[in-house]
Amino acid sequence: MAPVSAPDHEIIVVTPEMNELRQQCYDIRIAVFVSEQGFSVDEEFDQWDEDATHLLLRLVPSLKPVGTVRPIRAPNYYKLGRLAVLKEYRQFSFGKALLLGVHDWVRADAIKNGCNGEVKIRAHSQLPVRGFYAKYGYISEGDEFDEDGALHQLMIATIKLD
Ligand SMILES: CC(C)(COP(=O)(O)OP(=O)(O)OC[C@H]1O[C@@H](n2cnc3c(N)ncnc32)[C@H](O)[C@@H]1OP(=O)(O)O)[C@@H](O)C(=O)NCCC(=O)NCCS
Repeated sequence: MAPVSAPDHEIIVVTPEMNELRQQCYDIRIAVFVSEQGFSVDEEFDQWDEDATHLLLRLVPSLKPVGTVRPIRAPNYYKLGRLAVLKEYRQFSFGKALLLGVHDWVRADAIKNGCNGEVKIRAHSQLPVRGFYAKYGYISEGDEFDEDGALHQLMIATIKLD
């Protein structure tokens, strides 16, 4: 059977003042992490959310929000978290598009902040999606650990800046 092609879509960089679009990112996370996976709302939202940049993947021309991810700059590395695609829109490469969108955002942010050479992105991968991150260059480091009641694995990607 021929593969189903992905619906037309775009990725928006949601900056902190874009409250309405940030709420759309939150709504996707509630659908995926709270309703589907059973994490609590308290676990899902943290002190970084309001001031962070979020990426929002939405369909065009409908503007229906279907995926999100949150990159954060830490002092010596970047952190990728809250990657979620609504269940009915998986396997259209939207997860890949969001992940690579984070890589582009990190590259630009790192250069703007005077970094050169390379930077690291750390992700706490749920165990069933380790293979997804591995496809895009993330390497497992250390032992599995519990986070919010689910086993996770630290996975790290190296992003070249030149
Ligand atoms: C993980 C997630 C974001 C992936 O998004 P997606 O849109 O379904 O994935 P994509 O279509 O972009 O997949 C890209 C590639 O990764 C592969 N892949 C997807 N999920 C995978 C998994 N769990 N394990 C291994 N490979 C996976 C796909 O088969 C595809 O490979 P291909 O290009 O060779 O065909 C999505 O499944 C999701 O939202 N899951 C629930 C939330 C979650 O667990 N988030 C991660 C928290 S750490």
